[in-house]
Amino acid sequence: FSLASTSLRGTGFMSPVINTGSMLGTGGLNRKRGRDRGYSLKIEPPEKMHLAVVACGERLEETLTMLKSAIIFSIKPLQFHIFAEDQLHDSFKDRLDSWSFLQTFNYTLYPITFPSENAAEWKKLFKPCASQRLFLPLILKEVDSLLYVDTDILFLRPVDDIWSLLKKFNSTQIAAMAPEHEEPRIGWYNRFARHPYYGKTGVNSGVMLMNMTRMRRKYFKNDMTTVHLKWGDILMPLLKKYKLNITWGDQDLLNIMFFHNPESLFVFPCQWNYRPDHCIYGSNCQEAEDEGIFILHGNRGVYHDDKQPAFRAVYEALRNCSFEDNNIRSLLKPLELELQKTVHTYCGKIYKIFIKQLMKSIRDRYDRPPKER
Ligand SMILES: *[C@@H]1O[C@H](CO)[C@@H](O)[C@H](O)[C@H]1NC(C)=O
Ligand SMILES: *[C@@H]1O[C@H](CO)[C@@H](O)[C@H](O)[C@H]1NC(C)=O
Ligand SMILES: *[C@@H]1O[C@H](CO)[C@@H](O)[C@H](O)[C@H]1NC(C)=O
Ligand SMILES: *[C@@H]1O[C@H](CO)[C@@H](O)[C@H](O)[C@H]1NC(C)=O
Ligand SMILES: *[C@@H]1O[C@H](CO)[C@@H](O)[C@H](O)[C@H]1NC(C)=O
Repeated sequence: FSLASTSLRGTGFMSPVINTGSMLGTGGLNRKRGRDRGYSLKIEPPEKMHLAVVACGERLEETLTMLKSAIIFSIKPLQFHIFAEDQLHDSFKDRLDSWSFLQTFNYTLYPITFPSENAAEWKKLFKPCASQRLFLPLILKEVDSLLYVDTDILFLRPVDDIWSLLKKFNSTQIAAMAPEHEEPRIGWYNRFARHPYYGKTGVNSGVMLMNMTRMRRKYFKNDMTTVHLKWGDILMPLLKKYKLNITWGDQDLLNIMFFHNPESLFVFPCQWNYRPDHCIYGSNCQEAEDEGIFILHGNRGVYHDDKQPAFRAVYEALRNCSFEDNNIRSLLKPLELELQKTVHTYCGKIYKIFIKQLMKSIRDRYDRPPKER
């Protein structure tokens, strides 16, 4: 039934080590078995995609919706690394365990932690938990590569597709992000920043793909010493030097870092990190107009207020949807009707780009006849 059988069909990633052949044979998933932890530990998929998120405050539902959007379309198995305030752990566990029958993902919950000497300073930066992500290469020492996303991200196509960009990195690239702005006239960094930043308009760190093996190995050029410093050694001096001049916390530090090491950054187009800035004053992300939005980023709280109803409509459609095939297929029609109500806004005028890729993802994943069996 539903997603689980669909995913088995396409990839067969579970097949090699499953000792009860009946599961694949029947194509259905035995819920009870799927929930048995000991059993799922035996699964050894070929390659996992690692996805990290940092959730604090009122971000539980939003984070779960992001994770759901990752699960719905992805093909290869996912490993979630969820960094959350302690009081959120039980709620995450309850919901994620209730999805574990899918067997297409696995998760680990972590507390929020900072280097003990400077914990207070790191917590003060921008938002209480935001700078956690700077430490991911040091905390997840065993993980080669990682996709970090903010909680307000929605995947409108498989995580596999952004993950595959890792293979496009040249020998000096260690991380990938999208520009902060397409249109310098409304850019923030180029008009207001009091610190160096990457490229013409800076980069946005809400969707950040990292080869952490390379990040841990690299010695970074910097403007504090002539000696090149490793990731773990550069963060504190950088914060000390710039703390009075930075506005967006950790994202500003990343911009400073890649200003000095531009050969290390892979820049992907705006449709992989599509934000209100791309349409609220008129459309300025050409790639999204051509091919649709791949990853939606509802920053400025737009999923939860009425300022950008097009963003909110997509969020609610995914939040409301369950994992049943039929349910996923039938989310499009009502969503399109909702979006048509938003044409009085600049973002709503181009509402088709909000569902173009989503339609294709649903078709690719849920409308095809079974390949095997
Ligand atoms: C699930 O994650 C745990 C650690 O968090 C790991 O030990 C286990 O091998 C993973 N299982 C699968 C099926 O990926
Ligand atoms: C911080 O901003 C001030 C005012 O623009 C500038 O003079 C100073 O050099 C900046 N500090 C750093 C470390 O860049
Ligand atoms: C990350 O970089 C290391 C070192 O260059 C390489 O061995 C590894 O294959 C890369 N990971 C991915 C997913 O491309
Ligand atoms: C990798 O690509 C970046 C960005 O285009 C570039 O600056 C860098 O020189 C390239 N590295 C190599 C080894 O070609
Ligand atoms: C989602 O569900 C809520 C409450 O259950 C409902 O009010 C809302 O109209 C639904 N939205 C969409 C887009 O389906």
